[in-house]
Amino acid sequence: MSTPVCSVRSLSRSHGPLIWKAYGAAPVPAVTRQCIGTPPRSWTGSKRYISVYGYTQSKALVYSRYGEPKDVLRLHKHSISPPHGSQVTLRLLAAPLNPADVNQIQGVYPSKPPFQTTLGTQDPCAVGGNEGAFEVIATGSNVKNLSKGDWVVMKQTGQGTWRTHAQMDESQLIKIENKDGLSPLQISTVSVNPVTAYRMIKDFCEWDWMRSGEEWLIQNGANSGVGRAAIQLAREWGIKTINVIRERKTPEDTEVLKAELHELGATAVVTEAELLSGDFKNVVSGLTRNGREPIRLALNCVGGRNATALAKTLAPGSHLVTYGAMSKQPVSLPSGLLIFKNLVFDGFWVSKWGDKHPQLKENTINDVLQLTRAGKFKDIPVEEIKWAWDTDGAALTSGVQETLSGYRSGKGLLKYEGGD
Ligand SMILES: NC(=O)c1ccc[n+]([C@@H]2O[C@H](COP(=O)([O-])OP(=O)(O)OC[C@H]3O[C@@H](n4cnc5c(N)ncnc54)[C@H](OP(=O)(O)O)[C@@H]3O)[C@@H](O)[C@H]2O)c1
Repeated sequence: MSTPVCSVRSLSRSHGPLIWKAYGAAPVPAVTRQCIGTPPRSWTGSKRYISVYGYTQSKALVYSRYGEPKDVLRLHKHSISPPHGSQVTLRLLAAPLNPADVNQIQGVYPSKPPFQTTLGTQDPCAVGGNEGAFEVIATGSNVKNLSKGDWVVMKQTGQGTWRTHAQMDESQLIKIENKDGLSPLQISTVSVNPVTAYRMIKDFCEWDWMRSGEEWLIQNGANSGVGRAAIQLAREWGIKTINVIRERKTPEDTEVLKAELHELGATAVVTEAELLSGDFKNVVSGLTRNGREPIRLALNCVGGRNATALAKTLAPGSHLVTYGAMSKQPVSLPSGLLIFKNLVFDGFWVSKWGDKHPQLKENTINDVLQLTRAGKFKDIPVEEIKWAWDTDGAALTSGVQETLSGYRSGKGLLKYEGGD
């Protein structure tokens, strides 16, 4: 990634020409000199703009050490030079706050973006966030496939998406070929959760397509972004689903959530208490015509007793795929499931998978966007956090801090409302 070399304050339009005259015709050294010393106060105002030399001002949520987001995240202002070569300058449209983003900031996630000083911070830092939708606002002279106005997502995770503007090489980006009818929310949340659900359903089970409508998958965390995507993809592909959620505060609230998931296409929705009850075997029997309709795949993002209970419902030879650990409890399995039912226990990590299969990732994203355009893939509920140029850093970091709190009405979504 190419990043600006200095943390500069803004040059107002009226200052631009003066500087130009003072330093002669070459604009770049004139602006670079702004990095040295403290500019006049009037240059550090909160209003942002592009300087006469094409420098873009940006703010990024960065961290220089691991810890809770509220303690370690801060808003850093810097400037971005005009793009050259195959670089493009981007403006944020929207970026979600996913559980893994917070784990990364806490330092407990296996992939750790390197801490660097390229944004001009005193201490080396990383930018938070792993996915998001951006608009191209400027392109270098060698950029082949992107133009101003295009919408893009990141090719890989770990590139830092919680920033109003960024500069990247075009090779790091996936262009949204047809953004008609799509919203920033839909594009900013397509590359992690729906891709995870899609690949787990397609790649860990050889579904018998001749038995469409007669095979099942079971999953926990069914109201999560991944869970909602799995429900809709399974419905689309003729797979029935048993979906486990945690009870809400009141029975009425639980019924509302159940109805919401049924609306997406869930065949059955049960609570964790129902899953763990002695009667659940009979519930499954009733749903699957005494096992004649096999449960062939389990998707687990919770762990603990919940995961064990999912495994017990599986037909012989089936797979349980673990992709999250929200309860922080280990997955423990009765030996009989391995010996007598020959179950297979796998893990899936979309970051690693995407790095290995970049083209397939792009195709998967396009498939999901196609379903979205066709109205077959509904928006996830979000709690929008508006990010204007003047938004206080604390408002953003407290939104990030909420991410792992549980029982939320929607995923946090940073929505940038500033200009280019
Ligand atoms: N391996 C991968 O490649 C991959 C990719 C994407 C996501 N993930 C993982 O998938 C999981 C869901 O991610 P997401 O972005 O879809 O989530 P999300 O939309 O932010 O929703 C969070 C989900 O976690 C549940 N949850 C929160 N705290 C919990 C707890 N203590 N015990 C049980 N469940 C709890 C929530 O249930 P309540 O509403 O009941 O709180 C909700 O279903 C996360 O673990 C994430 O790290 C993994």
